[in-house]
Amino acid sequence: MTVAPTGPVSAPDIRARKGDGPPLVMVTAYDYPSARVADGAGVDMILVGDTLAMVVLGHEDTLQVTTDEMAHHVAAVARAKPRALLIGDLPWLSYHLSREDTVRNAAALIRAGAAAVKLEGGRKRLDAVHAILDAEIPVMGHLGLTPQSIHAFGGFKVQGKRLDAAQEIVDDAVALAEAGCFSIVLECVPDAVARLVTDAVPVPTIGIGAGRHCDGQVLVYHDLLGLEDRLKPKFVRRYAALKADATAAVAHFADDVRSGRFPASEETYHLADDVAEALGLHGANA
Ligand code: KIV
Repeated sequence: MTVAPTGPVSAPDIRARKGDGPPLVMVTAYDYPSARVADGAGVDMILVGDTLAMVVLGHEDTLQVTTDEMAHHVAAVARAKPRALLIGDLPWLSYHLSREDTVRNAAALIRAGAAAVKLEGGRKRLDAVHAILDAEIPVMGHLGLTPQSIHAFGGFKVQGKRLDAAQEIVDDAVALAEAGCFSIVLECVPDAVARLVTDAVPVPTIGIGAGRHCDGQVLVYHDLLGLEDRLKPKFVRRYAALKADATAAVAHFADDVRSGRFPASEETYHLADDVAEALGLHGANA
């Protein structure tokens, strides 16, 4: 069953959903067709995530994607005119250098068509959050396994397992919410930590690998559709096997071409019989 929102979704609409209604649904999308699929399914939010780097551009991690590349893909998603709130992910190093640089990069994603931006990190990133909010751009936070920190974390590892680490995540979430973030993504944290955060903040938490106590859930488009089949983290549920289906379909096409079954007569433009005859092509349309 899909639940379609009634009008264009705004960041304040998402903020107002804390404790109200069914869990929020967010999915990533990176181009015009994936945006049409996601919006057609009635999701509340579409995130043009920096996972773009991995699932679309083939990099090993998310650190390789630039603001220009993100803006290019935000613009493609925006052309689908989604009803869902369109959030652009600020890539690594686009909000770490200075306030001016941060606001300019956030503005690039807004000018490309996003209605909000997301950034990773907690109290360390409050200056960036304030700068972007001062420019009237809604900000979504992101805590836990923040993939832009993989080198600092030593890999893609569940975060917040120890008492002090769990407390840090709760304190970071409270600080982001107090600063004015309209929502916070929690990635790869134990469900009890996600529950503590969700109870501690007045804005919706959106979980990915964070259990069922969050106010909403997000999955990466390529993971949920089975387009990405190299890795399957524990938290991914596959709702389709599009990579296998697409490979089988292209193999079928190749087989039909090689065996002469494609194209068939009904897939071909034919000359009128009299024109073919006049050209000396006897039985050309047979
Ligand atoms: O970049 C991304 O796709 C994300 C989601 C995993 C939340 O940040």
